[in-house]
Parts: sequence; structure tokens; C-alpha cells
Amino acid sequence: MADAHFPVPATMAAMRLTGHGGIDKLEYREDVATPTPGPGEVLVKVTATAKNNTDRKAREGLYPTKGREEVTSFAMGGAPTLTFPRIQGADIAGRVVAVGEGVDAARIGERGLLDFNLYPDARADINLAPDYYGHGADGGFAEYVALPSEQFHHIPNPDLGDAELASMGMCSYQTAYHMMTAAGVKAGERVLVSGASGGVGTALIQLCRVIGAIPYAVSQPDKAEALLALGAEAVIDRGDLDTFVARVLEATGGAPIDAVMDLVGGAMTDLFIDTMIADMSARETYPRLSIAGASGGNVSEIMWTRIYLYQVQIFGVSHGTREEAAQLMAWIREGRLSPVLHATFKLSQLHEAERYFVSRGSDYLGKIVIVPDAEWQTHGAPFALAR
Ligand SMILES: NC(=O)c1ccc[n+]([C@@H]2O[C@H](COP(=O)([O-])OP(=O)(O)OC[C@H]3O[C@@H](n4cnc5c(N)ncnc54)[C@H](OP(=O)(O)O)[C@@H]3O)[C@@H](O)[C@H]2O)c1
Repeated sequence: MADAHFPVPATMAAMRLTGHGGIDKLEYREDVATPTPGPGEVLVKVTATAKNNTDRKAREGLYPTKGREEVTSFAMGGAPTLTFPRIQGADIAGRVVAVGEGVDAARIGERGLLDFNLYPDARADINLAPDYYGHGADGGFAEYVALPSEQFHHIPNPDLGDAELASMGMCSYQTAYHMMTAAGVKAGERVLVSGASGGVGTALIQLCRVIGAIPYAVSQPDKAEALLALGAEAVIDRGDLDTFVARVLEATGGAPIDAVMDLVGGAMTDLFIDTMIADMSARETYPRLSIAGASGGNVSEIMWTRIYLYQVQIFGVSHGTREEAAQLMAWIREGRLSPVLHATFKLSQLHEAERYFVSRGSDYLGKIVIVPDAEWQTHGAPFALAR
């Protein structure tokens, strides 16, 4: 059902991914058919969509789970669901402009944020085959998108701009929260967060504080001030690997790190384990390592004896559950989480945003958000880079 106050055009602007490869595979068009909401869906007029690493990885075909194939698609549910053309963009903020069959028309006009998962079933406490909008179905790098009504959560908060809301999208926040719940992180525990200045890392720092845990950020010195302001107890420079463990223990006053949230992998993961097993007699729980990313390398060499003799518990994490998304949306509504928005770019300039994201400088913290050109003055311009 449409609404006279929200006229929906037959065609829209969208950035379509036409195949695996470089940014030339992203094609901006203004004649893409506007989707129609199906049963149980809402049609959302997109005002802001955050960029994630997964957009680039999916485009380049960088999801090997076995072997080192050159181009591999994400295929958690069996067959790959990424087909072309595809509109990417997982973390969508916008307004409901029409509803499909079975959805209350009172939703029209609501501002909301998407729970980005394409859940394989209705279970709220487990998500075994995480796929997502912008990958297995069209996402938010467009003017309109059709989404399940129950996954488009109403977030009225007038103090939060739409681009800021998109920067708090579930691809980062739900992953961060699931890393913590998987490892059973509790109030009072010391948590080491790698890749701390990124989308997931900044979410982890805040979420640790929300539940009463103590986050130690692994990052770079020029980002320390901002990370401390966000809630980090201390910031450990990731630069000098030889002294890394000693510097972490110095920051904790010699107390053990209870759990590590690893987004970096590569050569650092073994050192992260060292920070937890330095003195087993000082620990109260098993060492716990949650892994959800590999920004520093997809292969780590770790001796199995170290894992089983020290009883290191390792948790692989992808996305999260409906329950976790609902909890995060509640915390956003309650104002317990803050946006970390680095900059906005116009949808037509997504190529430039991609290049900027890959070569970002040392002042980068948090998220880049893409705003449809027609929404730019209202939702994008206030957060644009000074250029
Ligand atoms: N499993 C999932 O469901 C899921 C969901 C979202 C993201 N991810 C993955 O999680 C990782 C983080 O995502 P994100 O969105 O937070 O990424 P991001 O915004 O790009 O941040 C990654 C951070 O990692 C650090 N880093 C980058 N290269 C590094 C290197 N070579 N060595 C050490 N640190 C390095 C940097 O932080 P500092 O400068 O502060 O060190 C960077 O800001 C990515 O690998 C992403 O693909 C997985």
C-alpha cells in the first residue's frame, strides 16, 4: 500500500554491482526499476547506508573458506547467493514510504534502521547461515529498497541524524555484540579489542562499556585520544610486535586479559593468545578468543599445543541473531551507543568513497556513509569531508 504523502517513482538511482572485480564493476544508473514491497515487507526510501569491508570483499570475490581460490563468493547457506546485477549496502537507514500485504500502514513515515541479515529461518537465538541484504538480496546503495517489516526497526531519536544512524548499522554492531556473547564476556572482565578504530572495533569498545566490561584497544598512537574518549581503558600501539605482550600487561597493571576480540588475525593472533596465557594461575576463567575478521591477514600460525594445553577457547563469529539485533536497537533508542561517523559521500561518488576507504589516513575512525544524491543536502552535507 502506497501513501499519497510519499509518492514513489517507477524508476530510481542505484549503484549496481555487475560482477566480481574492481570498482569499475560498480555502475551508477538512474533508470533502475523501483522495487515493490512483497507480503510482510516495507518499502524504504533510503536516506543513508554505511559502507562495510564486506562490500569490497564481496565485489573482489575474497571469501575463501577452504583453499585459496582466486574468486570466491560467500555461500554460507550452500550455493552462492550473490548474483549480478546486485545493489550492495547492508546498513540501511531511511523512511517507510509504502507497505506490502499484511503490514500495518501506520508504519508509513517511520524512520528506521535495518537488521541486515537474510536469516535462514525464524529462530531468534541462532543464525547458522548468515547472508545479508546487499549480498544475497538488494541493499541500500539506491534510492529505495524493499525489506522485511520486522527487520526494519523504528528508531525515532530526533537527535540522531540518518547518516549517524546508518553508521550504527548491524553489520558492525551485531558482529561486535555476537563476538562478546559468543565468548561469554561479563561485567568487570578485561577485553582486548584489535582493529579498534574500525566499524566493529569502535562498536566493541562501546558495547564493553554498556555491559560493564573493560576494553583495551589495539590501534595506532594517533588514534589513541579518540579511542580513549570513546571508552577505551588504554590504547596499545600495534606497531612493535616484540614488546606487545609486555605493553598490554603494563596497561592492565599485570592483570590478565580475560578475552580477546580479534578482527585482525595474521601475525597478531598468536600474540593475543600470549596476552591471555601469560600467567594461567592469575586467571579466573579459560582464555577466550573471538574471531570475526582478518584485516591483518587471513592465515595465522598457532601451535595446537598452546591452544589445548592452555585451554584456549576459540569462537568464530559471523553476524549474530535476531535477539542480539533487537537488544542493540533498544540500546540505540535508549541513547546508550554513540555514532562514530567519519564522513559521508554521495551515492553517485561511491567509486571515490571506495578509493578513500582503501587508502584512508591515520585520522580515520568509524564509518563512511553513502547518501543518495537527492538526499545529500539534508542527510549527507552536514557530515561531508572538508575537501
Ligand atoms: N564476521 C562478520 O560477520 C564480520 C562483520 C563485519 C566485519 N567483519 C570483518 O571484521 C574486520 C573489521 O571490520 P571493520 O568493518 O571494523 O573494518 P575497518 O573499519 O576497515 O577497520 C579495520 C581496522 O583494523 C585495523 N587494521 C587494518 N589493517 C591492519 C593490519 N594489517 N594489522 C593490524 N590492524 C589492521 C585498523 O585499525 P587500527 O588502525 O585501529 O589498528 C582498521 O581500522 C574486517 O576484516 C571485516 O571484513 C566481519
